[in-house]
Amino acid sequence: MLSIALICLCANFMATADFYWESGKPKHSNSGIQFLIPLTNQENFAYFTSVNLGTPPQSFNLSIDTAGYRILVPDKDCESCTDFTNFFIPYDSDTYQGPFQTIRVNFSEDEYVIGNLSSETTSLGSETIAVAEAQSFLLIEEDNQVKFEKDGLFGLGFNLDDDTPTYIQTLAYQQVIKSPIFSLFLSNINRKNQPASTLIIGGTDDRFSEGSFTYLELADFRGYWEINITEISDPIRPMPIRGETAIIDSRAAMIWGPSAYIDQILYYFQEKFGCTGKYLLCKCDGEIDYPDITFTLEGNKYPVSYKSYFQFFSNQTCMLMIYSHNLTVWILGVPFLREYYSAYDMENLQIYLAPALKGDNESDSKKRLWVIIIVVIFALFSIAAVGLVSYCFYKKKRNPKKMLYKSIAMSCAMT
Ligand SMILES: *[C@@H]1O[C@H](CO)[C@@H](O)[C@H](O)[C@H]1NC(C)=O
Ligand SMILES: *[C@@H]1O[C@H](CO)[C@@H](O)[C@H](O)[C@H]1NC(C)=O
Ligand SMILES: *[C@@H]1O[C@H](CO)[C@@H](O)[C@H](O)[C@H]1NC(C)=O
Ligand SMILES: *[C@@H]1O[C@H](CO)[C@@H](O)[C@H](O)[C@H]1NC(C)=O
Ligand SMILES: *[C@@H]1O[C@H](CO)[C@@H](O)[C@H](O)[C@H]1NC(C)=O
Ligand SMILES: *[C@@H]1O[C@H](CO)[C@@H](O)[C@H](O)[C@H]1NC(C)=O
Repeated sequence: MLSIALICLCANFMATADFYWESGKPKHSNSGIQFLIPLTNQENFAYFTSVNLGTPPQSFNLSIDTAGYRILVPDKDCESCTDFTNFFIPYDSDTYQGPFQTIRVNFSEDEYVIGNLSSETTSLGSETIAVAEAQSFLLIEEDNQVKFEKDGLFGLGFNLDDDTPTYIQTLAYQQVIKSPIFSLFLSNINRKNQPASTLIIGGTDDRFSEGSFTYLELADFRGYWEINITEISDPIRPMPIRGETAIIDSRAAMIWGPSAYIDQILYYFQEKFGCTGKYLLCKCDGEIDYPDITFTLEGNKYPVSYKSYFQFFSNQTCMLMIYSHNLTVWILGVPFLREYYSAYDMENLQIYLAPALKGDNESDSKKRLWVIIIVVIFALFSIAAVGLVSYCFYKKKRNPKKMLYKSIAMSCAMT
């Protein structure tokens, strides 16, 4: 009995560890259905989802983009679209509608795309789940210097203009999910035994956090997940920030901020740790314990570990993924999102942040391995003991005096 219980315990233990990886399937909870969409983490620089458009589905790998609200994919006929692998072919789909309107989307002063607003049946993942009918998207006809990773963008911002609802809004309108909420867990290649990066549609999932959510109100309603930033600090100096906002941007590989503050941080790394270069390169040979950099958003402190703010190279150097720009807005890119499991509520226009699950460090996983080994050995011994006792019973009945079984009989007497 004991050994069976132990084996069950052990199997259970290992099953919980595996459970995290079981994404790509709908999950039912009291807040309605949720879809766990696996994302691809490309070397901590960028995170992609697999998106299907049309009937039959045409598949794309798109960057998840919390700082934009549109889905952007290149048209097969777009001649300036050179960055892409997959292209959309409107006449191969039975459900394509459009073009409705030709628009321009600006990314910076001289980076923009021109495309045709259209609509399509849209779903995510390799199993085509979370299907939105007649979802608006932009078919890129001209790409002017916008650098795309993979096949385009998957917008997770919000849009207060009802003509072109976002994918998450469409799912809620069409009652595929109960409320227009999604959450984002971005894994870190510098940490071990973490769950894979996941986009959770329809709510939040506690398994991706280690700690409770703090709630943040939006500072502005222009379509960005934008909050007031009130302080940044390296370990020695808190620098108060007045009247500035930070945008959460899952497409930004770095954290960007005004040079007035960021230059102080860079200076600190240069002076204290001897880091050099335009993009600051530091020594990362495991000997220096780099401190956290802390961002204060609406009075709550969010420390970011060097495991998230550094990009590590194989030559024992690492690059600080924090850089300055001339804007007054801060961009909290993926180095920040690797530290915080973030949830976005499009109905109430709120953000929630919780410390992301860090995974085990190596000593923890070694400990776990030892526990499993000991439990297995103990279980085997118990099974052997039970076997022995049964055997003894059997033998005692039939031929108790035979010398060959003397030692067994002795151990039987002991048990
Ligand atoms: C998307 O990326 C994954 C991982 O790199 C790859 O296996 C898959 O083939 C890509 N899908 C498409 C449609 O290109
Ligand atoms: C994009 O930039 C161009 C040129 O600066 C400007 O004329 C246009 O209004 C901008 N479009 C949008 C949608 O902001
Ligand atoms: C997109 O719009 C342009 C200009 O309005 C038009 O010339 C082109 O044919 C359209 N493309 C598609 C696929 O409809
Ligand atoms: C953000 O800061 C501005 C002042 O800069 C203030 O008026 C506004 O109420 C703040 N919003 C939140 C949600 O804290
Ligand atoms: C280490 O590798 C990075 C990235 O390839 C490179 O930029 C840097 O110069 C290298 N540093 C040294 C000391 O070789
Ligand atoms: C910021 O502005 C200064 C002067 O106004 C300029 O020299 C510098 O190149 C700008 N930096 C960036 C990143 O645009």
